[in-house]
Amino acid sequence: MGLILAIETSCDETAASVVESGTNVLSSVVSSQIDIHARYGGVVPEVASRAHVEMLTPVIAQAMVEAGIEPDELTAVAATVGPGLIGSLLIGVSAAKSLALVWDKPFVPVNHLEGHLYAASLEEPDMPMPVVTLLVSGGHTMLVLQEGHGQYRLLGETLDDAAGEAFDKVARYLGLGYPGGPIIDRMAADGDPMAISFPRAMMNDGYDFSFSGLKTSVVNHVRKNPDAADVDVAASFQEAVVDVLVTKARRAVHEYGAEALCIGGGVAANSGLRERVLDVCVEDGLRALIPSRSMCTDNAAMIAAAGWWRWQSDGGASLDHGADSSLRLQTI
Ligand code: KG4
Ligand code: ZN
Repeated sequence: MGLILAIETSCDETAASVVESGTNVLSSVVSSQIDIHARYGGVVPEVASRAHVEMLTPVIAQAMVEAGIEPDELTAVAATVGPGLIGSLLIGVSAAKSLALVWDKPFVPVNHLEGHLYAASLEEPDMPMPVVTLLVSGGHTMLVLQEGHGQYRLLGETLDDAAGEAFDKVARYLGLGYPGGPIIDRMAADGDPMAISFPRAMMNDGYDFSFSGLKTSVVNHVRKNPDAADVDVAASFQEAVVDVLVTKARRAVHEYGAEALCIGGGVAANSGLRERVLDVCVEDGLRALIPSRSMCTDNAAMIAAAGWWRWQSDGGASLDHGADSSLRLQTI
């Protein structure tokens, strides 16, 4: 048994969580800054750092109280060390290292992307390997083959915009607000996904993705058809994104002989994507690993899950460890 306290401050959520043995979530506290950034139409790094400073101590305290544990019961303190906004990352990393020092516990650095890859394992402890995971967030879009704990092969990634970024940019253009993903998701439910045939870039071409052309084509369509119903634009755009993501992920699962298709990252909260992944898995006899929505968007429970495996394989790190805003996923 091991108890990990994890801290996540890579972007605009201040989060702390206590997880037992990588799967049993004793607490998961997330303080979102969405309301603070919404008026600027996106995350303002300096504002995010200040909000993390204000919220982190109460968020950690709440995570410990809800878990009902004392610091001396912890196995280690983990924190996201990258990728993300450097000022925001440093606040979580400094806090985690200070607590590790004061409580005399090991410090475990965690890659945020590895956290998203482990989110599903919080609810599916016996994650089958190899597994293909579609990691779709605001900053990343990757197709990853995981052959064992910490053993990743990057099959493909976006060549331009991340999937979440495309949702956010299209929503911004349509004047819908920030963040765009959940808003488009809600609107798409009332629209016709077949109303407009948006392009599916690189659909049959390897495992890389490209979403910037799709975004431009939404803008052009709306300019030429000012009366197009927003709900139809939203539904058709979402359909094009989901179509490309799931087609490629499905092909990868078969090519690499995986038994399961997993999703993670903020865009994995999307209703259209979740539904399509489930359909494909039922059709192809695959296990669908779909984390609950709150575990798709940024949270610290997924950092604790990944931290638990990192602790077992690498042990603790030196307190000299810094943060790296462009940290890559360690692949084999
Ligand atoms: O993983 P995440 O919380 O933060 C990053 O690591 O980037 O992902 C945030 C992204 C944003 O772009 C947001 O618009 C998108 O995930 N997102 C969604 C949904 N919920 C969040 N996109 C589509 N549908 C959703 N329901
Ligand atoms: Zn994330």
